[in-house]
Amino acid sequence: VIKPAERKRYASRRFARRFDRLRRYQHSRRSVVRRIGELRRVEGARVVELGAGTGVLTQEICREAPRWVAAFDRAPRMIELARENLQRRGHHACSFARADHRHVPLRSGCADLVVAAWALDSVIYDSDEATWRSELDRVVGEMRRLLARGGVAMIIGSPYGGRDHVGHLERVHGFSRRLFKTVWRFPSRRIARSAVTLFFRRAVWRDYRRHWPKDLVTLAGLWWKAC
Ligand SMILES: C[S@@+](CC[C@H](N)C(=O)[O-])C[C@H]1O[C@@H](n2cnc3c(N)ncnc32)[C@H](O)[C@@H]1O
Repeated sequence: VIKPAERKRYASRRFARRFDRLRRYQHSRRSVVRRIGELRRVEGARVVELGAGTGVLTQEICREAPRWVAAFDRAPRMIELARENLQRRGHHACSFARADHRHVPLRSGCADLVVAAWALDSVIYDSDEATWRSELDRVVGEMRRLLARGGVAMIIGSPYGGRDHVGHLERVHGFSRRLFKTVWRFPSRRIARSAVTLFFRRAVWRDYRRHWPKDLVTLAGLWWKAC
């Protein structure tokens, strides 16, 4: 869970670089994309990614040979770096543009797969208690609008949190869930500390620091719904 103070930092190039560097220590990120592919074939698919950040997962999606990927994020510095990352690796079937999850500038029914990975915390936690559900509904509504018949919406993220987004996705929107482990592996204690305090709560570092250099294993959820 990214803390509010961290959110503002998405606006800085320096933060984007740090995020990008540390994000790559999620050792299992390729298997995240394999899990997506188990539910909807990525090869040949038209893919929209919401909150793509610096494109770390986008790169893995591109390796699966989709027809095209249209990736969005609201933070310009993250998009800049994502474009550089994808161009450097020769993934030309991918475009990045600035957009909020709730207003994606694409026509209805254009995609086979719409994915948002670790990107909805702002929607769930920046809104107040009375409105977070309706904000999440707007995101789900936008995902469904983008999907062609038979397309699949996928939300990946933490199953934990102070608000019952899991119950909301499953009970109100009919999403199905799969839980899976993610593995983080750090080459030094200093890097471990930077990454864990950036991507998780400080309490996680206080617990994990005694166990480094063992892998950090976390639980993630993949919620999906065919439209
Ligand atoms: C934790 S990062 C995850 C990035 C990427 N999905 C990954 O797994 O590496 C969350 C990203 O979502 C973006 N984001 C958060 N709320 C957003 C919103 N309402 N609309 C668009 N992008 C958003 C942030 O700018 C950030 O780049």
